[in-house]
Amino acid sequence: MSASTVRVKPFSTALGAEIDGVDLSRPLADDAFARIRQAFLDHGVIFFRDQQLSPEQHIAFARRWAPIDINRFFKPVPGHPEIAEVRKEPEQTSNIGGGWHTDHSYDEAPAMGSILLAREVPPSGGDTLFASMSLALEALSPGLQRTLEGLRAVHSSRHVFGDKSGYAAIADTGDRIGNRAAATQDVVHPVIIRHPDTGRRTLYVNPAFTVRFEGWTAAESEPLLRMLYQHAARPEFSCRFQWRAGSIAFWDNRATWHYALNDYHGHRRVMHRITVQGTPIPAAA
Ligand code: SIN
Repeated sequence: MSASTVRVKPFSTALGAEIDGVDLSRPLADDAFARIRQAFLDHGVIFFRDQQLSPEQHIAFARRWAPIDINRFFKPVPGHPEIAEVRKEPEQTSNIGGGWHTDHSYDEAPAMGSILLAREVPPSGGDTLFASMSLALEALSPGLQRTLEGLRAVHSSRHVFGDKSGYAAIADTGDRIGNRAAATQDVVHPVIIRHPDTGRRTLYVNPAFTVRFEGWTAAESEPLLRMLYQHAARPEFSCRFQWRAGSIAFWDNRATWHYALNDYHGHRRVMHRITVQGTPIPAAA
């Protein structure tokens, strides 16, 4: 499949692009891949519709980008440890990813991107929100941006996936999130990063995994983090994607946040997610 069939259509003013004219179950020519990669970098999240991929084809597409970064905590798809299952059954009330976050920010080299493929979706609801952290940063005053440039923040997996975590406290996530003993990561990243591929400056803190600023207590950090989160979650920096079975969203974890809505109780939603490896992220300053 060559670049001549690939069409890229902006999805919202803030971020996102819909890509059509591609069948991801087949090998992509280098020029088609380059076009898709550029759309990913330009728009922060790219969407594909009607992709009938086997798990092997999903894995092959992911490997075209980077080696796979296996998630330690999500239950994998049987027979495919590379694919994390994001599932909610009709009788379950909690979902996975139901709050603003960016995947794997608790890692030294956070995952570059996540490729989420919808297998089964509820009749309505279960949309995912995405937000551009570059736009959020650019809308802050120059004075606050200068202050943030001097800060680094601690990110952790412990309070989310560990023994005393939010997920551990919710009984019905027990079969979907596990390996709690592996939740030992604490890492420090710059609060404003320079995107390793685009060079764009991006705000890099998130409500799920950032616990405090380096050298500050959690209580001292909380008011400024809260202000940043309220600001970054403003609707004008975001878009909302409505899934169909066979839809794919591939988002850039260095440039965006996402939020899985939990508004479809009584219905099943099954998604397959592959995260691909990234590199350590440099400070903007
Ligand atoms: C996730 O947070 O990775 C899952 C997003 C979703 O299920 O929409």
